Amino acid sequence: MSKRVAIFISGGGSNMRALVASMTGEHPARPALVISNNADAGGIAWARAQGIATEVVDHRPFKGDRTAFESEIAARLAPHAIDLICLAGFMRVLTAGFVTPWQGRMLNIHPSLLPKYRGLDTHARALAAGETEAGCTVHEVTPALDDGPILGQARVPVLPGDTPQTLAARVLEQEHILYPAVLRRFAQGDHTQVMLP
Ligand code: GRF
Repeated sequence: MSKRVAIFISGGGSNMRALVASMTGEHPARPALVISNNADAGGIAWARAQGIATEVVDHRPFKGDRTAFESEIAARLAPHAIDLICLAGFMRVLTAGFVTPWQGRMLNIHPSLLPKYRGLDTHARALAAGETEAGCTVHEVTPALDDGPILGQARVPVLPGDTPQTLAARVLEQEHILYPAVLRRFAQGDHTQVMLP
């Protein structure tokens, strides 16, 4: 019985699309739902066109009441019998109230080599610090932000003249390789780290 995966997005969903594209054939998981806090997320239209169930829970009407927002998300998840959650460019912080019941079944991709550069603007910060390499990390989600057990990392060189945009593009290419590779292992219970290259 393949694992049913919900993918959380906020924007274009390029990581979501890479994950969906990887879940075919012998893969132990299948995309069951794409959910976003943003009705205009390009990834929602794409997922619908693929025939994948979608849900949109706009966070703004909840006016900062994170618990109420997360309760609505949980209610939208319930009918889909989800086994695993993949956060993929999801830009809302989830509280312990939501994360704890999913701990061990919830992944995130972060555009830095954790534990370095938790939080936002990772590429600009890495460049400002004079890093010679950068990359991305897939980790289990815990209540602490960008802090759970690392399941995989991909490294890229920082090149002369790099801007946050050029570095982000180089890292994003690796995200699309790393996240599917980690999900494939994780979905069959294998937590062995994926380290690229
Ligand atoms: C990616 O850099 C990802 O690491 C971060 O959000 C960015 C956009 O992701 N979490 P996507 O194109 O929406 O998947």
